[in-house]
Amino acid sequence: MEKILINGGIPLHGSIEVSGMKNAALPILMGCLLVEDKCVIENLPEIDDVTLSLKILEAMGLSVRMLGRNTVEIDSTHAVGGSSPIDLVRKMRASYYLLGAELGRFGHAYVGYPGGCDFGVRPIDQHIKGFEALGAEVNVEGGYVEVNAVNGLKANNIFFDVITVGGTMNIILAAVKAKGTTVIENAAREPHIVDLANFLNTCGAKISGAGTDTIKIMGVDRLHGCSYAIIPDMIEAGTYMLAAAATKGRLKITNVIPKHLESISAKLTEMGVEVIDDDESVTVTYVGELNRINVKTMPYPGFPTDMQPQMGVLMCLAEGVSRLSEGVYDNRFRYVEELKRMGALIKVDGRTAVIEGIKRFSPAQIRAVDLRAGAAMVIAALATKGVTEVEDIYHIERGYDDIVGKLRRVGADIRKIDAEEKVAFPVAN
Ligand code: EPU
Repeated sequence: MEKILINGGIPLHGSIEVSGMKNAALPILMGCLLVEDKCVIENLPEIDDVTLSLKILEAMGLSVRMLGRNTVEIDSTHAVGGSSPIDLVRKMRASYYLLGAELGRFGHAYVGYPGGCDFGVRPIDQHIKGFEALGAEVNVEGGYVEVNAVNGLKANNIFFDVITVGGTMNIILAAVKAKGTTVIENAAREPHIVDLANFLNTCGAKISGAGTDTIKIMGVDRLHGCSYAIIPDMIEAGTYMLAAAATKGRLKITNVIPKHLESISAKLTEMGVEVIDDDESVTVTYVGELNRINVKTMPYPGFPTDMQPQMGVLMCLAEGVSRLSEGVYDNRFRYVEELKRMGALIKVDGRTAVIEGIKRFSPAQIRAVDLRAGAAMVIAALATKGVTEVEDIYHIERGYDDIVGKLRRVGADIRKIDAEEKVAFPVAN
């Protein structure tokens, strides 16, 4: 177990290159199961969830060969359905994509119930409803989900009761080779859904409408191999954008699609931060006191829930009282208790946090309670004079490629140490 130590209060300056998007990479890697051929996936982020996904695929008989730090070749010709190891599957929410991918490839799926960050109840009823609409029978028993389409999958119209990213992608995966044209309505519109559809279309699938709330999937008999580069990670980009503002610095964030960052840029601008878009970069500059704002998270193109904890930190550093409402999950404010250790004044009432600006945090020992909460703790520590320790960083390493190295290269005094290493606390500057 390791922890991150940050001697903060230093404005970040320079340029950070964003890696490939975690939440696109994971369904695309699982989607390789559908392609009985070789796929080369580029711009793969080097993060623990990708490593875990590749281990799961290898255990299922796929051949996985790294062709460089960010490129992998996957050959799924000899994949064995229902063979994913439960101990690996349970470590990650995204393993639910095996359900759609195995169902699409073999007509049946047998996968351990997925794990993932704890934001309260995270059901998969909409995934199940979609599989059933395609003619499959679903059983959840003994910690496993079993899906069987004895008579093959048949296209259907599916209307989601809630907008679900995972559900939308899982039905796309299952329906790619189903007979006929499946229509998903009230579909999620996130850029990673477009990326999965683009990957599958490059392999010969016929998917249209991804990025809108109505997606049509015309079933095809088989898919062929391809080379495909994953889109940049908008949440990683957004995290560094907020780090620039929180540390009163200036960062050019490169390898981004500025369109994907619009909701984040708009809120930063409202706070009085300068955001300048270029073709493939955004430059974020702190220009003075941060204004109070209100933010409500929503499915794309709304403000992303995966940026909510990071925004909570920035609101603590603004003038006056801000309101932060969570519109996607029941319980994504567990990080607030950690921020309170640093002096934050936050009251949580149900799905809304009322945040009183305090201008500066004081250093403390804090925990990453989940992935994005961990990123938020790093931002808080970067903005704070003195040494802050962030524990349980395995959450952060699930989704941020070389966060310590990237921040160090823009001036942060940050290092990773063994959790057992003793550090006098607090350390004077
Ligand atoms: N929901 C249902 N039933 C379902 C599916 C979802 O009620 O069958 C509810 C959820 O409980 C939640 C809401 O619908 O309240 C949205 O959930 P969604 O299915 O969209 O989320 P997800 O697929 O489980 C993915 C990302 C999350 C990200 C959300 C929302 C992956 C592996 N995970 O989760 O990413 O927060 O979409 O954008 O892609 C992260 O990266 O830190 C992360 C948590």
